[in-house]
Amino acid sequence: MEKYPGKRKIAVFISGRGSNLKNLIKHSKKKNSLIKIILVISNNPNAEGLKYASRSKIKIFGIKFKNISSFEKNSLKLLKKYNIDLLCLAGFMKILSGNFIKKFSKPILNIHPSLLPKYKGLNTHERAIKNKDKFAGASIHKVTEKLDSGKVILQKKVKILKSDTVRSLEKKVLKIEHKIYPKAIDKFLSNL
Ligand code: GAR
Repeated sequence: MEKYPGKRKIAVFISGRGSNLKNLIKHSKKKNSLIKIILVISNNPNAEGLKYASRSKIKIFGIKFKNISSFEKNSLKLLKKYNIDLLCLAGFMKILSGNFIKKFSKPILNIHPSLLPKYKGLNTHERAIKNKDKFAGASIHKVTEKLDSGKVILQKKVKILKSDTVRSLEKKVLKIEHKIYPKAIDKFLSNL
């Protein structure tokens, strides 16, 4: 018998705080959600998010980071072992190789704190403020070999006020990240 009837098995990669992870765990517990979070892997064994996942009885693996290829090798083993259907990156600050993406062979989604295709990479809020943009936002996209360039699944914007700082903007964007990541995952899975 299927262990989690109707639910897809999800792994989440994180690097730190894990507020998106926490939010996804909450979402996964809802009756109508399409996901069951099976494992959480971090390149940082001290990542705050691992503690929360562990308290939620999810398997956690903090892999001490030596280089990306050994991290990928170890996590690939776990993804296969637990028969993961979808990998979600949530504040994962390493770049996965094309080789890993190919070998995993299941879809990978990422949340990025900008209105892609604007501001790929780091310091997105700083760049949006510096450029006097009217809007900032967050995007959920498919992960491909090219950094922050895969198809956008869902995107939402927020107004940048004159009074906004990097910190205040980060806070506002994080709020919408929490709204759209669960929605994007469910949308993506129902279209598979
Ligand atoms: C989030 O803002 C996420 O969009 C960003 O890191 C933060 C993680 O917060 N991700 C990236 O910048 C990926 N390039 P969290 O750990 O509280 O979820």
